[in-house]
Amino acid sequence: MTDKKYTHETVTEINEWVPGKLFSISTTRHPDFQFEPGQFARIGLPADHDPLAEPSIWRAYSMVSTPQDDFLSFYSIVVPEGEFSPRLAQLKVGDPIYIDKTAFGFLTIERFPQGGTLWLLATGTGLSAYISMLNSPATWERFDKVILAHGVRFCEELTYQDEIAKWQQQFGERFVYLALPTREAYKNHPQERLTTLISNGKLEQLSNIKLDPEQSRIMLCGNPDMLSEARKILGEKGFATGRRGIPGNLAVENYW
Ligand SMILES: Cc1cc2nc3c(=O)[nH]c(=O)nc-3n(C[C@H](O)[C@H](O)[C@H](O)COP(=O)(O)OP(=O)(O)OC[C@H]3O[C@@H](n4cnc5c(N)ncnc54)[C@H](O)[C@@H]3O)c2cc1C
Ligand SMILES: NC(=O)c1ccc[n+]([C@@H]2O[C@H](COP(=O)([O-])OP(=O)(O)OC[C@H]3O[C@@H](n4cnc5c(N)ncnc54)[C@H](OP(=O)(O)O)[C@@H]3O)[C@@H](O)[C@H]2O)c1
Repeated sequence: MTDKKYTHETVTEINEWVPGKLFSISTTRHPDFQFEPGQFARIGLPADHDPLAEPSIWRAYSMVSTPQDDFLSFYSIVVPEGEFSPRLAQLKVGDPIYIDKTAFGFLTIERFPQGGTLWLLATGTGLSAYISMLNSPATWERFDKVILAHGVRFCEELTYQDEIAKWQQQFGERFVYLALPTREAYKNHPQERLTTLISNGKLEQLSNIKLDPEQSRIMLCGNPDMLSEARKILGEKGFATGRRGIPGNLAVENYW
C-alpha cells in the first residue's frame, strides 16, 4: 500500500465572525507538518457527504496559526455557489478533515532583505497569511516597521481586531493598521480601494511613511484583480518580485 499524501486531522474549534460569510476553523496538527508563516495548506474533504470516504476535493488555505502552535487554524469565506467552502463551513468540532503533508507557497518574509518597512496589503480573507506573520517574532526582528492594510467590503469584515489591538499595544509606532471598508463608512478612514490609495498617495499619507523601493518590502494577498492592478501601479513605482536569486521588494499570493 502506498503511503498517503495527507494526514487525517480533527476539527477542534470553529469561530463564526460574520454568520454565513466568514469563519475560522482550527484543527489538530500532525507533528511532521512544517511550514513558514505566509504558506498555505491544501485541505481535503470527501466529495460526498460520507465523512468516512476518502477526501476528493481539495482547496488551498493560508495558515493563520504560527509554526509554534500545536494546532492549525484557517480563516475562510463562504462562497455560496462554491463546492468546498459551504461544506467547510458546515463542519463541527470532532469532524474529520484532511491536510496534505506538504505546505506550499512563497509569501514568506525570507523573500526580503533584512530591515526597512514591511507592507502587508490584503483584501478579504487575504488577511489570513499575515496573522501568522504578525504573530511570529521573526517578523518583528527582521523589519523596523510593519504596515497592515485590510480592504474589505463592509465594516463587519474587519476581523481579528483583538489580535490587531494586541500588536498595537505591543509594538506601538512600529505597527500601523489601516482598516479600509469600501462599501460603508468607517471612522474617518477613506472609503477607497487599496489600489486607489496606492495611486493617489493616500496610503503613504495614512501610514506616514513613503513607499520607497529601497526601504519598502510589499506583500499583496487576496483578490487576483487587486493583485494585478496593484502590481502594475507598484511596478511603475519601482517594485517587482525577485527572480533568479535577486531579492525583490514585492511578493504576491493570488487566492483564486
Ligand atoms: C494560495 C491560496 C491560498 C488561499 N487561502 C485562502 C484562505 O486563507 N481563506 C479563504 O477563504 N480562501 C483561501 N483561498 C481560496 C480557497 O482555496 C477557495 O477557493 C475558497 O475557499 C472557495 O472555495 P469554493 O470551492 O467554495 O469555491 P471556488 O470554486 O474555489 O471559487 C469560486 C469563486 O469564489 C470566489 N472566491 C474564492 N475564494 C475566495 C476568497 N477567499 N474570497 C473571496 N472570494 C473568493 C472567486 O470568485 C472564485 O472564482 C486560497 C486560495 C489559494 C490559491
Ligand atoms: N455568504 C454570503 O452571504 C456572501 C455575501 C457576500 C459575498 N459572499 C462571497 O464573498 C465573495 C467576495 O468576498 P470579499 O468581499 O472578501 O472579496 P472582494 O470582492 O475581493 O472584496 C474585498 C475588497 O477588495 C476590494 N476589491 C475588489 N476588487 C478589487 C480590485 N480590482 N482592486 C482593488 N480592490 C478590489 C473590494 O472593493 P469593492 O467594494 O470596491 O469591490 C473590497 O474592498 C463573493 O464572491 C461571494 O462569493 C458571500
